[in-house]
Amino acid sequence: MAGLGVDERGALDASALTIESADLMIENVIGTFALPLGVGMNFLINGEDVVIPMAVEEPSVVAAASNMARIVRKAGGFQADCDPSEMVGQVQLTNVADPQETMAKIEAAKPELEALAASVHPQLEDFGGGYRGMSVRAVTYDEPGETVERMVIVEFVLDCADAMGANMINTVAERLAPELARITSEKVGLRILSNLAHRRLARASCVIPAALFDGPDLKGEDVVQGIASAYRFAWADPWRAATHNKGIMNGIDPVIVATGNDWRAIEAGAHAWAARDGQYRSLTRWTVDAAGSLHGSIELPMQVGTVGGTLKSHPTASASMKILGNPGARKLAGIIATVGLAQNLGALRALATEGIQRGHMRMHARHIAADVGAQGAEVDQVVQVLCDTGEFTETRAHAALAEIRG
Ligand code: MEV
Repeated sequence: MAGLGVDERGALDASALTIESADLMIENVIGTFALPLGVGMNFLINGEDVVIPMAVEEPSVVAAASNMARIVRKAGGFQADCDPSEMVGQVQLTNVADPQETMAKIEAAKPELEALAASVHPQLEDFGGGYRGMSVRAVTYDEPGETVERMVIVEFVLDCADAMGANMINTVAERLAPELARITSEKVGLRILSNLAHRRLARASCVIPAALFDGPDLKGEDVVQGIASAYRFAWADPWRAATHNKGIMNGIDPVIVATGNDWRAIEAGAHAWAARDGQYRSLTRWTVDAAGSLHGSIELPMQVGTVGGTLKSHPTASASMKILGNPGARKLAGIIATVGLAQNLGALRALATEGIQRGHMRMHARHIAADVGAQGAEVDQVVQVLCDTGEFTETRAHAALAEIRG
């Protein structure tokens, strides 16, 4: 269905990343490490069907996202978008005696500094990106009990188009550094991108009538109120927010991994963004309107690329991109935000109703069934016995298997 050729189908196998390629990617290679690769199903995003590759070891993640996407598609699907791919680079001037004077020197030299920054990656313009501006600010280190240090930070912005952009930004930062040292006579410290990609926010949203959550023992209106209440808990309390956002990253990280992107960058950006007003809060928002419909939204930095990096060297990442329909970076960012929203919905719905253990124990039962030697159809039969009896033990599984085999 995704139009994968024979080689690309081969790329879905764990052995697709050869030891030779792995050895070119990192140092001291002794092997490769496989993860299950599943597909998130039922996603309707901006009116388009999308099949979403997810590399993850945790049971229930792919199933929960797909289940929620099935409900949301009945309500018209998700809306998603992402800002232009603007990344920020920082150059630090350390131990600055008079920040105002240093900042004035930089402002005076801004035209030549900007011309230099803009000259490093001229090819970006061909792809709709390019240099987008520079600013300067003072930062003070004033940790209690320590010597105060004043710094001046020069920040520039580059639209990295379909690239994640870390290398491009870091190159510009390193090119600007000697000029800044010369102009200010200050000492240059760090020259590096910021992973708090606040100009590259991805968003997704959905509106779901309460009736779509009706179940045999559940009223949809109670479910949506429970989800909104769970959100309010995460907004108000960092201890809950950490777990709430972990559930969101359960959906986001697997797509980041499957597409060969940098999940540490996404994690760092997401959590810094979640704490932007000084308190760590929920990355999603859930409210119920007067008609009883549930409104969900998510917004977070999404520094993903669809060209270069691991994508080029990892065959499974290329195949994943093809399954996604080879989107550009901004479209991919919107898709990833959507999976985060769906994953959070799945967790909150379970937590607000039956709790998450029932689903988890069913998956756990599959491991127990396999451990006692159940094969093929026997696995589901043993799982059913364990779930019906509520006894998730190897002893029970052995007995069930013996009975099935007569
Ligand atoms: C488990 O991996 C994720 C959850 O804890 C998320 C949440 O509590 O919202 C279920």
